[in-house]
Amino acid sequence: MDDYRGRLTKDGIRIYEEADFAGMHGAGRLAAEILDRIADEVVPGATTAHLDDLITKWVDEAGATSATVGYKGYQHASCISVNHVVCHGIPGDKVLKDGDILNIDVTVIVDGWYGDTSRMFVAGKLQRKAERLIQVTHDALMKGIEAARPGNTFGDIGYAIQSYVEANRMSVVRDFCGHGLGRVFHAPPNVLHYGRPDTGPVLEPGMFFTIEPMVNLGRPETKVLADDWTAVTRDKSLSAQFEHSLGITEGAPEIFTTSPAGRFHPTYSA
Ligand code: MF3
Ligand code: CO
Ligand code: CO
Repeated sequence: MDDYRGRLTKDGIRIYEEADFAGMHGAGRLAAEILDRIADEVVPGATTAHLDDLITKWVDEAGATSATVGYKGYQHASCISVNHVVCHGIPGDKVLKDGDILNIDVTVIVDGWYGDTSRMFVAGKLQRKAERLIQVTHDALMKGIEAARPGNTFGDIGYAIQSYVEANRMSVVRDFCGHGLGRVFHAPPNVLHYGRPDTGPVLEPGMFFTIEPMVNLGRPETKVLADDWTAVTRDKSLSAQFEHSLGITEGAPEIFTTSPAGRFHPTYSA
């Protein structure tokens, strides 16, 4: 949809106006509040379908719309990716057990604006290996956000994430990326979570996009299961992901999906 006001850069990236930040904050806040609420429901014995049912209900009660229901045939209000599932896990009859780690990813539409965020949760007691993975993945996202300033490039963001993850002897998934969003769900650019400094499009104030690194304890390769959605690590190693939606300003970026309850991280001490 290219009919929104404002302009596109030569790379096809939309530059939004100052007034548009408020719309994104509204959508981002709802998505973050839903993840705040779901935290208490993530317990051993719960099914991922139950968690998705609650999310569906809360989106509806807020008078908002789920961006994922009906998206390319997807039928749920969340993606729930457990243990070695990298992303796009489909909620179902899977029962959570003690020590499982999971990413829950929610995208809502409020007044036409898209809010997209995900974070990690744990059912029961967190194992030390998983705790390290979650910590490094969270911190990698924050390194990427720190690099998201005008004059820097998208390659700078990818480099910040990749170098941090690899210094911790973990790997960055290459097969999925972040994306522009705003009045649409997925727009240019592809926000890669790896890369080289000084490469790619230059950031400008008014760009809205997600950063959503997926990090594996083992190798980076993934494969998509026969359901055409569920992406898993090929080596069955644990995977984690955190996602924020943000807007570029003259200074530090505005994060649209900050947790009102301060529960983005650490999920495991809450
Ligand atoms: N929310 C995901 C993202 O971060 C996209 C999920 S699409 C779905 O971009 F169809 F799988 F839900
Ligand atoms: Co996203
Ligand atoms: Co998402």
